[in-house]
Amino acid sequence: MPGYELVGAEELAEIQDVFQHGGVLFRHGFDAMRQNCYKVKEFESVFAQAMGAEHALAVSSGTAALRVALAALDIGPGDEVISQCFTFVATVEAIIESGAAPVCAEIDDTLNLDPEDLKRKITARTKAVIVVHMLGTPARLSDISAICQEYGIPLIEDTAWGCGGRLQGRALGTWGRIGTYSFDFAKTMTTGEGGMLVFNEEADWRRAMAWHDHGHENNPAVPRWEDTRLSSGFNFRMMELQGAVGLAQLKKLPRVIEAQRSNKEKIWRALSALPNIEPRAVPPGAEETADALIFLAASRRAALAAREALVSAGYSTKILPEAYTWHFAATWTHMPELVASHGNALEDAFPRSTALLQRAVSIPINVMMRVEAPAAIAKALSEVL
Ligand SMILES: Cc1ncc(COP(=O)(O)O)c(C=O)c1O
Repeated sequence: MPGYELVGAEELAEIQDVFQHGGVLFRHGFDAMRQNCYKVKEFESVFAQAMGAEHALAVSSGTAALRVALAALDIGPGDEVISQCFTFVATVEAIIESGAAPVCAEIDDTLNLDPEDLKRKITARTKAVIVVHMLGTPARLSDISAICQEYGIPLIEDTAWGCGGRLQGRALGTWGRIGTYSFDFAKTMTTGEGGMLVFNEEADWRRAMAWHDHGHENNPAVPRWEDTRLSSGFNFRMMELQGAVGLAQLKKLPRVIEAQRSNKEKIWRALSALPNIEPRAVPPGAEETADALIFLAASRRAALAAREALVSAGYSTKILPEAYTWHFAATWTHMPELVASHGNALEDAFPRSTALLQRAVSIPINVMMRVEAPAAIAKALSEVL
């Protein structure tokens, strides 16, 4: 689980640094006061470097990052955007906010976007695809990006759960045209609230930068109050204290991922001998963030019993099965735009995904795990599986 386990002296030192440099909390301007202290800008620069991306833009949340990505690609009314049916509501909310029609595709055995179903759902109106690396396991990006290239559709990676993961040596978030990240408090690295975008194309970065800041181009030839603009936008800016925390958290990211992988491996070793348990598939060449360990039980009843057993033993599950309805589009009848895309029987729209997700159990992985945890989790589960 997350960077919040490691929030401490380093984050505090970065925050103090802001106050020792004039206490400017806004990312722009106040140059004389701040004595060259620009935490958000610095965070963007080191984050881009860490991911191997050309450009990065920090924003106020992972949801904002998705909305800004769609704005940078000029997505709007009349367009369709395809994502996957297993994701957090935020992915589809961002599409709805852009004015485009949200379309969801089935997931495959990785529990991420099924390339075959993606192909079936593409129409002449499809203007973007958002793939999600749910709970830190990469989607089948080689197939998905090949399909997007074949159809000339930009790929956005919702890397909210995948920050620090890789596939075939390449950072998650950098396979598509734009990658988005979340730094909310439950994520692998956190700024409390916050998000980031990375870009492969400078023009996308420039459009996103202006749009997330009311259209400001930050033209160096004029003061900000006379700034030039090409379009309107909105305010999704990150503030300096978040940037400061992000700088400290990014340094801890490799340690978080390494600890999570090691702890996940220990739990899996303890569980793998249990009957009626099928691990989530992982694409070849994946380096997961190991945010959670997901397996499929024999039935929905068994999945619910697994959660009960874990909670009784002092452990828990994460998202599956207990928060199924916040993460599965088949249950989102409160979104008329999604219902309009899929017809009234939304609950029947994703039969393969329903069959997978109803049986799924997700065990959170902590950075600081008690030594007895793997055996205790295995013991609790052995009584119900
Ligand atoms: C897949 C996915 N996308 C986007 C978000 C939104 O991130 P935030 O909470 O930073 O707005 C989340 C948050 O959990 C998420 O799980």
